[in-house]
Amino acid sequence: MSEALTLEAARARDAHDPLREFRARFALPVDAHGEPLTYLCGHSLGLMPLRARELVCEELEDWARLGVEGHEHARRPWIPYHENLTAGLAALTGARAGEVIAMNSLTVNLHLMLASFYRPQGERTRILMEAGAFPSDRHAVTSQIAWWGLDPEAELIELAPRAGEDLIDTEALEEYLEEHGERVALVLWPPVQYRTGQAFDAARLVQAAHRHGCVAGLDLAHAIGNLPLALHDADADFAVWCSYKYLNAGPGAIGGCFVHERHTRSLPPTRHRGSLPGARLAGWWGHEEPTRFRMEPQFRAAEGVAAWQLSNPPILAAAPLLASLEVFTAAGIGALRQKSRALTGFLEACLAPLAPRVRVITPAEPAERGCQLSLRIGADTARARALFETLNARGAICDWRSPDIIRVAPVPLYNRFEDAWRFTQLLAELLQA
Ligand SMILES: Cc1ncc(COP(=O)(O)O)c(C=O)c1O
Repeated sequence: MSEALTLEAARARDAHDPLREFRARFALPVDAHGEPLTYLCGHSLGLMPLRARELVCEELEDWARLGVEGHEHARRPWIPYHENLTAGLAALTGARAGEVIAMNSLTVNLHLMLASFYRPQGERTRILMEAGAFPSDRHAVTSQIAWWGLDPEAELIELAPRAGEDLIDTEALEEYLEEHGERVALVLWPPVQYRTGQAFDAARLVQAAHRHGCVAGLDLAHAIGNLPLALHDADADFAVWCSYKYLNAGPGAIGGCFVHERHTRSLPPTRHRGSLPGARLAGWWGHEEPTRFRMEPQFRAAEGVAAWQLSNPPILAAAPLLASLEVFTAAGIGALRQKSRALTGFLEACLAPLAPRVRVITPAEPAERGCQLSLRIGADTARARALFETLNARGAICDWRSPDIIRVAPVPLYNRFEDAWRFTQLLAELLQA
């Protein structure tokens, strides 16, 4: 390795990192000797903010102390609890306050959004998404198509990379829409693709969809908390996400939804209809708050995206998100992104000497990726998998996507340059063994 990629160089970078103090705000999993693991798996499950324990314990205490009274008299009353999360989520998604809501989990939110925004009509019946999408997204889409009595085989269009390639050009999506846009009802796209880590320009995706009269929906699972987002200005119709990856809100944490105010502002509050020619599935938590507890049979929609809520929120699954959003607010997504570019670039540079045995399939251009690098291991699947298992057993925590991809993500809130260096050292050692 060159001079600039030594342990000393990594430590020097850490010493000058303006965000270095944030690592101490997280619980770091340790090995059998009590040493922190080289945890590079924040793209799958983010680490626990220490404050999450405090905030969850406060809710448990308030429940113990107050019982049902906690709905109104807990330190953070439970009825409007989700409102505590709005500012932090709006900052991370680039949304206005009435456009974001914490609720449910990702796949449920995707179904709710599709129920409102996928309205096949006449010739416009298709959904366009990326080939190799996360299976749950595909299941949601195919089942929604079938729900309309249509054939998913015909109506789901999966745009694949060119033969022999891993990445999808945005031009290919634009070209597809140029040719077949009038048949497409909805484009569902990830600003960061889960397997390759490829990032897309959300505004450009939305523009391409809108140019041809299609609804533009985004799955932010791998983008929120990873890249700065500007959903309102990008004019996205809707977006959905989970909070257990870069948002560090814990396993199964409460997810979230964005609906552009264009679709909510004009809604007559008493009518159970969207501004799109469709319906919105309703539950009592989407009812306007001042009259919700009158328990009247008529539905009066809350303002904004809040009207899409169904159930009262899971407070114990929301408290860790509040803890995490406090950390994001303190660090700032702009500063995090700046560090992330440097950190992922450093990891990439450390990995370069391992080519061609290890090939990074994530784009090399920093604007086309977030934290994550996806590494293709040049070996048969069994050997590549064994390598991955040894990495984990030796304390470098990453994950595996069949048949030959190891995903690693140095996360700027808690990872160090030293982690990137240590991971690469271990990988190099195992490749030589
Ligand atoms: C892109 C994507 N979609 C959907 C899911 C499923 O999320 P959930 O189990 O929260 O519905 C995940 C989970 O990792 C994901 O990464």
